[in-house]
Amino acid sequence: MKTIAVIGAGTMGTGIALSSALAGYEVVLYDIADGFLQRAYRSVGTMTDKMVERGKLTHKEANDAALRIRTTAHFDHLKTAELVIEAAIEKLETKQELFAKLGEMVGEECLLATNTSSLSISAIASATRRPQRVLGLHFFNPAHVMKLVEIVRGHETTDDVMYRAEGYIKQLGKTPVLAKDTPGFIVNRVARNFYGEAFRLLGDGIATHEQIDRIMKANGFAMGPFELMDLIGIDVNLAVTQSVYDQFFQEPRFRPHLLQQKMVEANLLGKKTGRGFYDYSPKA
Ligand SMILES: NC(=O)c1ccc[n+]([C@@H]2O[C@H](COP(=O)([O-])OP(=O)(O)OC[C@H]3O[C@@H](n4cnc5c(N)ncnc54)[C@H](O)[C@@H]3O)[C@@H](O)[C@H]2O)c1
Repeated sequence: MKTIAVIGAGTMGTGIALSSALAGYEVVLYDIADGFLQRAYRSVGTMTDKMVERGKLTHKEANDAALRIRTTAHFDHLKTAELVIEAAIEKLETKQELFAKLGEMVGEECLLATNTSSLSISAIASATRRPQRVLGLHFFNPAHVMKLVEIVRGHETTDDVMYRAEGYIKQLGKTPVLAKDTPGFIVNRVARNFYGEAFRLLGDGIATHEQIDRIMKANGFAMGPFELMDLIGIDVNLAVTQSVYDQFFQEPRFRPHLLQQKMVEANLLGKKTGRGFYDYSPKA
């Protein structure tokens, strides 16, 4: 594979694009509007600058990688990709629409992957006329840094598709783990309890979010649940929680918290809007 297309130039799509470009792939990064693409372009610059500062990349490697990413708001520019990774919003209908269109447009051999955190790969695949070529490639945030990637086999995914996807993930220098097509796969199913119990502690007035984060970090976690939710995006986290809850037939232990809902309504989405549980504005 030489050319990768990424759909959705948000937090995850940008990181996946950069990861692929750093591994030498040509990348086409698509989003619905130019504004999102300009934001992604700036994020790539910020991410590579940090890597250069930390001695992980040279200036030349950073520039070469950035030059390998071509942004576009034209869906038909994805036509020549050998692997498409969809990282648009966590909504089944949106993903199905995209996969239906992709199935009509890309070459017969092209792999169609979704970065969904929780939705059924088989349900997404059912919308395209080539469900055998659909799989989940679930990267973690920040995607250009985190090593783990869940590779999820849908009901009809072939062995050849799984094998080629694993080769791509290894080429990125990442660690693949095979997961079954169940709600939240492995990591997000475990993580629901990490966030859910933290919300219940906060909602019951037992501890503040700062205290909970501090205690978790003192016990070896790299980030506390509230810091992590701010990084992920409160809206993305709510959508994933809601989706896992519904797919497990409203299992109470996965129920979203009202506080999450209120924060999304108030546009307190975390780092991406400048405020979530913590304040990220320049003056803070
Ligand atoms: N944020 C995380 O930590 C994380 C981690 C793993 C997986 N995911 C999954 O990755 C996907 C993207 O999440 P994100 O955090 O990057 O979201 P985001 O909100 O940062 O970005 C989503 C992007 O998709 C674009 N988009 C929306 N509809 C589109 C369409 N029809 N076609 C093309 N682009 C479209 C938006 O304009 C936006 O730029 C979701 O499925 C999410 O569950 C997120």
